[in-house]
This record gives sequence, structure tokens and C-alpha cells, in this order.
Amino acid sequence: MKKLLLAVFGASLLFGAMSVNASPEQDRKEVLELYKNKFPNLKFDDYVNGALSFSEDALHQYKSIMEFPPYDSQLDQGKKMWETPFKNGKKYADCGNVGKNMAGHFPYFDEKLGKVVTYEMAINSCRKANGEDEYAYNDMNTMGLLTAYSRSLSDGMKMSVKVEGAKALAAYEKGKQFFYQRRGQLNFSCASCHMSMVGATLRTELLSPALGHAVHWPEFRGGDNVTTLQTRYGQCNRQVRAVPFKQGSEEYNNLEYFHSYISNGLPMQTPVFRK
Ligand code: HEC
Repeated sequence: MKKLLLAVFGASLLFGAMSVNASPEQDRKEVLELYKNKFPNLKFDDYVNGALSFSEDALHQYKSIMEFPPYDSQLDQGKKMWETPFKNGKKYADCGNVGKNMAGHFPYFDEKLGKVVTYEMAINSCRKANGEDEYAYNDMNTMGLLTAYSRSLSDGMKMSVKVEGAKALAAYEKGKQFFYQRRGQLNFSCASCHMSMVGATLRTELLSPALGHAVHWPEFRGGDNVTTLQTRYGQCNRQVRAVPFKQGSEEYNNLEYFHSYISNGLPMQTPVFRK
């Protein structure tokens, strides 16, 4: 662990800091540049594969598993939920902002609400507008499975998150700060593991790049364990023994805003399987 920590502090001098007061587009370019220097052989689109890009064997294995995805029957459950009309006869698709080729526009900043809106929040607004109860953000059997199917309808569209206006920028900056802030007993930031130490092995896992993180959610871990992006935030916070925030909290929504923005231009690919 001591060696690992030294490596982190060393590397963070080089990679950990990002320009203060840069525009989101400058940030994104810096992130691209950082990975380009670190992994000159990786192409931009390779980043949709996360840590699998660092191991030909793992990628090969993954591709053969995906010929018959282990999560098919769960995805069918999500499809059924998506297609079943509400009590008033309307469907999710009638809401207009969720479903086909929509996921890549999330999260977005809603000027009227004055906050970041995630895909899951839009699903709940749609339910509420149609007289249905909202789903809990951490309920993987409802929100998890429903979004696993409905976000798959955006496969192939490019991530296209926008940050426009002073308030949107402020939310984005908060998310960026969260990403670079060290926390927990281990005193690691998201950037320590997913920028500086990318490609290294932590216990048995290869650390994935933050670039491309946001394009493939929800994912199925171990084949059938549906996990949303913010569930993962909680797990990563716990890994460094920090108290996690609630899924759907402003802190995680702002983090997701920054985290998704830096993957702009990469194709959405939902759901995926990860070990
Ligand atoms: C101590 C190191 C560590 C820290 C700090 C950390 N993570 Fe992770 N994270 C991991 C490990 C290990 C995994 C599993 C292997 C992988 O995919 O990188 C992971 C996985 C992820 C994944 C899933 C990748 C995928 O494709 O399945 C996301 C997203 C993620 N982390 C985001 C974050 C964010 C955001 C933060 C800051 C709140 C963070 N992590 C902090 C170690 C860390």
C-alpha cells in the first residue's frame, strides 16, 4: 500500500491537477491529451471499453461473452416495464425526452429548476406527470432495469452533454471539484484512481480511465447484477472509506454532469457486462 500511495502522489503531480477556471471544452481537451500521452496506442473509441482496453485477453473474453449476454432475461424485464402503459394508457415514450436517442443528452442543466437533471430524474418526472409513483434511485429492480433497457435505445448516439450559462457552469464546476477532491480515510480522489493510476491493478482489478466511464450505464456486474452509474459512485466512495452520498443527491448529479461531459463524442453503449 505504501508503494501504491507513493505512486499516486508522484503521479498526481503530473496528472492530478487540472487548470482552474478553464472552460469545460478546455477541460475535455486536457483530459483527452492526458490519456493520449499516457496511452498513445489507444484510439478515442477504445475508451468505451474501459479497463478492457488494457488487456487483449480480457477484451477477447468479453466479446465472446457478449455474443449471448448473461443479462438478457433481465433486459427483457426492463423492456416489458418500458412498454407497459401507465394506468392512464400513456407510455414513457410519450414523454418525449426519454427513450430513443435521448440518453446522450443527459445530464443537462434545467434553467427553470436551477439544477442538473439526470436520466433517472426525467424517468421519475415522466411517471409523476402520468400519475404514477416515483421510483427510488437506488432500486435496481425498477429504476435499474428500466433504465438498462430504455438507455439501450440510445446505443450508438454520441454523448452530447451541454454546459451553457453561468448556473450550468457553476454546477459543472462543483462536479469537477468533487472529482478532484481527496476524501475518505485513504485520502484518494476519483482522479487519483481514474486519471493518475489508470491501467494499474488495485487488488485484482485494473483501474479504468474516467474518459468513457459515463457512456455505458447501467451495467451488469458479474453478469446479472444491474448497477447504475451513481450506485458505482457510492461503491467507489466506500472503497476509500468515505461516506457515500445518496443516489440522486445534488453532489452526485453535479459529479455525473462533469463526468459525462468529458466523454462527449464517444458512442453510447448500454448495457454492458463487467466482472
Ligand atoms: C481507490 C481507487 C478508487 C477511487 C478513489 C475511485 N475509484 Fe472508481 N473504481 C475503482 C475500481 C478498482 C473500480 C473497478 C475497476 C474499474 O473498472 O476501474 C472502479 C470502477 C469505477 C467505475 C466503473 C467503471 C466501469 O466501466 O465499470 C466508475 C464509473 C468509477 N469507478 C467512478 C469513480 C468516481 C466518479 C470516483 C470518485 C467519486 C471513483 N471512481 C473513485 C477504484 C477507485
